[in-house]
Amino acid sequence: MRYTLMHISDLHVSWHFDLTVAEQLVRQAHDIQPDLLVISGDFVLRADLTGQLMAAAAYLKLLPGPQLVVPGNHDVSLFNGYYRLFYPLRRYRRFISPELNPVFARPGLTVVGGCTAHGLTIDGGRLHAPQIRTLDYALSRADPGGCRVLVLHHHVVDPPSSKRRPKIANAADALHLMNRHRVELFLCGHTHVSYVGTTNGFQPGPHQDTIISQCGTTTSRRGRGHDRGKNSFHLVDIDDQTIQITPYFYQPDARQFLPASAHAFPRRR
Ligand SMILES: [Fe+2]
Ligand SMILES: [Fe+2]
Repeated sequence: MRYTLMHISDLHVSWHFDLTVAEQLVRQAHDIQPDLLVISGDFVLRADLTGQLMAAAAYLKLLPGPQLVVPGNHDVSLFNGYYRLFYPLRRYRRFISPELNPVFARPGLTVVGGCTAHGLTIDGGRLHAPQIRTLDYALSRADPGGCRVLVLHHHVVDPPSSKRRPKIANAADALHLMNRHRVELFLCGHTHVSYVGTTNGFQPGPHQDTIISQCGTTTSRRGRGHDRGKNSFHLVDIDDQTIQITPYFYQPDARQFLPASAHAFPRRR
């Protein structure tokens, strides 16, 4: 069993979208031909602007499939209070994806996406109770001996040495969900900072460590902290022994994304 996931995030199609970087991403994504392209939310800057949603939808068609996508906080209407409160993801579901809990299942691999974006906050996220029940159900149907992967937009732990940004309000519930289902790998975005690590040390009591792939912004000029001005994606290789994560950063001089480091973790048995 061997799978390659390409993890991109926070495209932010808007006036912050870097067309040169975005075009190169399309080329490299087709060269890599991943088994699954994961996009962990924030497709646009303002979901109120139909032009941004249409442009994001058109851009997704240029990228290879299959794709698994989840919404971010920027994919919720901001200015229209009625939509924000009662139909926060209506426009996301119309233009980007109707599915808020996508599942990619293959022998030995199950990838489940969830929704942390909602209308009661500007920046933070939450896993509401119905969402946890839906994810419980999806993960309970995963291949028992396979690798389980969870994808959310918001992070569940603050990466060390980076400026804190609002994470999931009920992060402990998200960690318990991952522990319940022995989720080996967690993919997220939101902070615009690339980070690879584990949940080890972030949760009290007996637990299973989950590997974290937190992707920076792949195509926007909104990189933050030590990723200011930078664009990244993560390549995730999963086989029977190892999960390897390779962050790629766009190098303007080379006009392409190049690997910056490599992180190998043994598979959980
Ligand atoms: Fe973002
Ligand atoms: Fe975000």
